[in-house]
Amino acid sequence: MALNMDAIGRKIGPLTKAYTWKDCSLYALGVGAGFSDLDYCYEKNLKVIPSFSIAAVFGFLSHVGAASNVNLAGILHGEQELIFHNPIPPEGELITEGAITHYYDKGKDKGALVVATCETRHSNGQKLFTATATIFSRLDGGFGGPEAPRRRVEFPDRAPDFTVADTPSENQPLLYRLSGDIFQLHVDPEFARMAGFDKPIMHGLCTHGFACRALIASLCPGQPELVRRFDCRFSKPLYPGVPIETRIWKTGDGKAVWRTVNAETGDVVIDRGVCEIGPVPKDEIRFDGRVAVVTGAGAGLGRTYALELARRGAAVVVNDLGGARDGTGAGSSSPADQVVAEIRAAGGQAVANYDNVATVEGGANIVQTALDAFGRIDIVINNAGILRDKSFVKMTPENWNAVLAVHLNGAYHVTRPAFEVMKQQGYGRIVMTTSAAGLYGNFGQANYSAAKMALVGLMNTLKLEGQKYDIKVNTIAPVAASRLTEDILPPDLLDKLSPEYVAPMVMILCSERCPVTGCIYNAGMGFYNRAAVVTGPGTVVGGGDKIPTVDDVAAALTKISSLEGGKEYFQLNDQFGDVLAAFSAPAAKVGPGAKTATGK
Ligand code: NAI
Repeated sequence: MALNMDAIGRKIGPLTKAYTWKDCSLYALGVGAGFSDLDYCYEKNLKVIPSFSIAAVFGFLSHVGAASNVNLAGILHGEQELIFHNPIPPEGELITEGAITHYYDKGKDKGALVVATCETRHSNGQKLFTATATIFSRLDGGFGGPEAPRRRVEFPDRAPDFTVADTPSENQPLLYRLSGDIFQLHVDPEFARMAGFDKPIMHGLCTHGFACRALIASLCPGQPELVRRFDCRFSKPLYPGVPIETRIWKTGDGKAVWRTVNAETGDVVIDRGVCEIGPVPKDEIRFDGRVAVVTGAGAGLGRTYALELARRGAAVVVNDLGGARDGTGAGSSSPADQVVAEIRAAGGQAVANYDNVATVEGGANIVQTALDAFGRIDIVINNAGILRDKSFVKMTPENWNAVLAVHLNGAYHVTRPAFEVMKQQGYGRIVMTTSAAGLYGNFGQANYSAAKMALVGLMNTLKLEGQKYDIKVNTIAPVAASRLTEDILPPDLLDKLSPEYVAPMVMILCSERCPVTGCIYNAGMGFYNRAAVVTGPGTVVGGGDKIPTVDDVAAALTKISSLEGGKEYFQLNDQFGDVLAAFSAPAAKVGPGAKTATGK
């Protein structure tokens, strides 16, 4: 048996674990809570001990064991890091995804370390915690891998600021194992003896739960939701019934180090503990209470946006006509329905809509669906799209009109009724979808390029009309593998073009904290940049008091064409202001090029 090197980086999950308040309470009893910690045990105003997160990690760790091919006869839980992003709600589903990240070699007779990290979200879409576990495998060393980096924790050279004494009961492992860790070592006397112990030992993670309670009681009593980080290393076994002390040293604002010792022998059973306390960080982009409409969300990019919005708390109208790639066909409800089902399965809120954005009624219905289902509309992503590529001469009016109808008119039909609501409520985020084909040109896509660039024009004016109502309007130019690009881009490139790479930029543009309006962003493959209409400084030809000749303008063409020192204008008036200024500012009027141009 050897460690499976191919497992590194391979995704494990999503693994889902449904739980209720009873699971939280059972865990709390398992780690020694009782009437003195009633908040952890009583369903009325139940608070969840953060180390309950381990319940989600068990399933993940057994997959890590199988995927890594680690020799199960010699494994121990070595280290555990937990970073908390949001408090754990008292019920719901925990959805965990992660991967093995490293194998480290301690030497042939010393063993190996398997490190795996996972992230757990709640079915309400919130990211709850990131867990990194280090499994120590006594029997897998000597494979020639790298040495583990040393993680040092400095303990102050003074008495602890807090010492919390406790005594796990003789029966503690029997209660704790009901939370999921049913390894025989903690229950079966014969198995324990075979493993070299006098009797079943405490689960390290059970002692870890005692320590977590002790830290909360010392550092933020009654506020488990303030725990941001909880790391440690399991260093010695402990028998149930033996008194323990968790010793805690404050090391800074919201920071502490800790260790748990066997109070009879002084042996450190959990070492190198780190704990951080603080408010829930406010930096995650969330859409709780927001209502979003995503058109063409049954597939491709739109689906990804809808899932991500819902995961971050938005209620989403998933619009999709379900037609063919060129917009033909009767349409189908199944793409939108499937995405709605996905969102709901993950605990999010969504409704389907099957209207055609290319009609006035369709646009109105889509917006009405949001109002009927959720009572408001905060976000519109105009994403629905079709293609009818032909070289220009072969481009029939039908193909021209069909593409403009979906992309350009579609955005108008949906945005106009939504804009009205956004104005009334004084808030809105609108995203147009353009394309590099429109911004820069693409052979055979005259209809599509025209429609896509027209959306930039629509954005330019809506950003002004929305400004005083906090309505921000921006444009995304995505590149992603989808039905539209599957036969245009080479297959090896398509593999690198997951729509997930585009979604983060769109999420920022849809968010409350979106810092811009009227901006265009290219996004795809992990590359992002901004595109803009830039205007060169230009020059006055003919002094403004006489009409220049063609030759005068031709002579100044280099200067006229130059974008050096060019500018981006926010609106027409700004640009026109600069034109007028060019006549009043002598420096702008009489430059070196201007002299040549006017022939003076
Ligand atoms: P996609 O074909 O996977 O998704 C488009 C969705 O729009 C489809 O599910 C379709 O059923 C729906 N749809 C089409 N006509 C509709 C209508 N009249 N009413 C309602 N829904 C309708 O394509 P993809 O790639 O996800 O495209 C999304 C947007 O991104 C489109 O606007 C496209 O032009 C644009 N885009 C995509 C690029 C890419 O690399 N995938 C590049 C540049 C722009």
